[in-house]
Amino acid sequence: MLIRNGVLVGAEGQRRLDLRTRAEKIVEIAEGLTPEPGEEVVDASGLLVLPGFIDTHVHFRDPGGTHKEDFLSGTQAALAGGVTTILDMPNTQPAVTGREQLNEKAALAAAKAVVDYGLYLGATPENVEEAAGLANEVAAMKLYMGSSTGSLLVTEFAPLYRHFSTFPHDKPLVVHAEDEQSLQYFGALARPQSLASSTNHNQVRPPLSAQIALSRALAIAEKTGRRLHIAHTTTQRELELIQEAKQKGVRVTCEVTPLHLFLTEEDQQQKGNLGKVNPPLRSREDQQALWRLFDSIDTIGTDHAPHTLEEKRQPYAQAPSGIPGVQTMLPLLLNAASQGRVTLQAVIERCVTNPARIFGLSTKGALEIGKDADIVLIDPQKEYVITNEQMLSKCGWTPFAGTHIKGMIEQVYVRGALGYVRGTCIARAGSGKSVVYTQSC
Ligand code: DOR
Ligand code: ZN
Repeated sequence: MLIRNGVLVGAEGQRRLDLRTRAEKIVEIAEGLTPEPGEEVVDASGLLVLPGFIDTHVHFRDPGGTHKEDFLSGTQAALAGGVTTILDMPNTQPAVTGREQLNEKAALAAAKAVVDYGLYLGATPENVEEAAGLANEVAAMKLYMGSSTGSLLVTEFAPLYRHFSTFPHDKPLVVHAEDEQSLQYFGALARPQSLASSTNHNQVRPPLSAQIALSRALAIAEKTGRRLHIAHTTTQRELELIQEAKQKGVRVTCEVTPLHLFLTEEDQQQKGNLGKVNPPLRSREDQQALWRLFDSIDTIGTDHAPHTLEEKRQPYAQAPSGIPGVQTMLPLLLNAASQGRVTLQAVIERCVTNPARIFGLSTKGALEIGKDADIVLIDPQKEYVITNEQMLSKCGWTPFAGTHIKGMIEQVYVRGALGYVRGTCIARAGSGKSVVYTQSC
């Protein structure tokens, strides 16, 4: 296939070049390529040609929660959002904590996924050795220092330290850094009012809890010399601590979600449980700090965590935490780029280049010869409004309904095959493949 007349966008800049794919790979990038006999030609005049986005943080609920998402609906939503690779979190039912659950989930993903995928393993106080033994088969290990959806949790020093020291040091350990003891304390303080719909989740799970857990994780990472990736960093203080640790040589990287870039605690007050997520939507000051310190963010991941409207309609205390987002990340960031808040290059660095580097996805990560032909064609001029009806997630809602977007995803290719075209997923269930891991750095 030959994609002609488009503007290729990468982490290093924009270039008007043609791109040729063959047998799932990018094989040629140059000016003025001429079609070969019988070759399919895509005219990308006026379009931007982006590498497929890599979302290293999704919760697809398969198995155990398939009434709200499964590998088919979740990866279709990803594809429609220009995300051609996802890494799925382990807090499914059962949680992925060992060989048996990993094999079960791998079979489900292989049968249903329409984008490429990798799986996380979840840390428990008991699975230190087993987790380390499975490291080569997973994208990373996820460790919850504070409880959230599901039962995965490691709070005691001994298993925490043993996971940090035993899981292969060059493989990412991804931490949900909220401190359980302080969550319990502030949660108990808030309980008398927590039936009120106006409960401020940011006060129930305050920034201090994130700061305590992060400090603990950084100290242990420094001592053990291992790699550490902090999921959903939400506050100025956390970004400062991470920067300081990086300067001291701690092998830490961090993620921010579009939720925390685009929404605040005021939105949670207004949207009620639809804005309830762990860690919570923060103050306007913290949200602005994420943009001001954008350079220090390594990856943007969605934390796509679908729950049904029925589940969200329960009282605050019972309603599950989590917000869908895999389909809206690229549109929101494209729109931010069109407003001059960020450059597309900086977005691609955080949504493609760095995720591939950090998670060792060496066949992904750039529009370059030899890489998988994961390609997104964008019309930068087209405008539209996000609606719940456009969402392909089974949960059927988005907190961004009503948001005006400039920049539209026209076509998405996964390893050279057209999977999505203007509103319609045409990819076949099971066409997504497990990613290949090489040494990450
Ligand atoms: O709000 C959240 N929802 N935070 C998490 O850590 C998990 C996620 C979920 O799976 O629903
Ligand atoms: Zn998550």
